Amino acid sequence: MSKTFAFFGATGGCTNACLAYTLLNGYNVIALARTPSKLTNQLLEQPGLTTSTLEKHLRIIQGDATDIEAVMQTLIVEETESQPTLVSSVISGIGGTGIITYTKPSPCEKMKMRIPTMPHIELANPHITEEFAQTLLAALRRIAEERFVNFNAYASVAPRVTVISSTGIKKELNDVPFWFKKMYDTLLPIPHEDKLKMEMVFEAEKSKEENVLAGGLILVRPSFLSGDHLIPAPGKEDPYRKLRVGNEKKPAVGYTVHRTSIGRWIYEEVVRNGGDLWVGEGAILTE
Ligand SMILES: NC(=O)c1ccc[n+]([C@@H]2O[C@H](COP(=O)([O-])OP(=O)(O)OC[C@H]3O[C@@H](n4cnc5c(N)ncnc54)[C@H](OP(=O)(O)O)[C@@H]3O)[C@@H](O)[C@H]2O)c1
Repeated sequence: MSKTFAFFGATGGCTNACLAYTLLNGYNVIALARTPSKLTNQLLEQPGLTTSTLEKHLRIIQGDATDIEAVMQTLIVEETESQPTLVSSVISGIGGTGIITYTKPSPCEKMKMRIPTMPHIELANPHITEEFAQTLLAALRRIAEERFVNFNAYASVAPRVTVISSTGIKKELNDVPFWFKKMYDTLLPIPHEDKLKMEMVFEAEKSKEENVLAGGLILVRPSFLSGDHLIPAPGKEDPYRKLRVGNEKKPAVGYTVHRTSIGRWIYEEVVRNGGDLWVGEGAILTE
């Protein structure tokens, strides 16, 4: 049976591009989306993707990434009498919708007002990636406990999990150029705190004896994102050729990276090659 991949956050630029490459190359996908029509409209804008490809290879689950039932549906390809068939890999680009803001809540709680501050990004849900990580692990645990005869049976088919985190999360990685550090510290503390907490949720799971991440975890750390979800049409300039790739021991340090290059890298390394080289590594991607 061909592999099936679960996608979360595929209306975001990086993950939409990855999903486009995945579908164009004939893999099957189950994708969770809050607004399925937004996802299909974005995919049909992608060069080469047609309605018939979507009908053949894509199943969309309508729902929220913090809804355990919806997440479970996205992870199960098929229920059988013995044990379910699970997706072989999970790919997530879940992230909060950011708005640039010039005020912050007053430190005096009694004064329910906001005071001026340096420009920074606030998120509609500042805990979304942490909450998604918790929901994903809870969904995998319920699947392992309720649908498999024992944990080992689950662990032998546990999906590999690839999530987009960020550079600048852990100071010790030195993955941000000197001239960008101040900007990251001022502009991005809210999304970065969320990503750090997401990583801590995964880290805590890895230390458990019955670790539902038995299929392996891959963290993708892009530098500042540029561009949109549209993959280059054949023959057009592709920013992917400028992509530089490092890991946590030897980071690739740079300023920006195009969303479609992140999507293409995840497609090449995780979807096409399985991702073995990157399990337990943070892939640091920049231009
Ligand atoms: N911006 C940067 O410079 C930067 C740098 C490094 C890393 N990152 C991270 O890289 C990742 C990809 O970024 P991107 O710009 O390509 O995508 P993005 O625009 O951040 O997309 C976020 C995705 O998460 C989905 N989402 C959010 N809350 C959800 C919920 N409760 N339930 C279901 N889906 C939900 C959104 O769906 P809807 O369409 O329904 O909103 C969208 O598909 C994000 O995690 C981002 O934080 C960003």
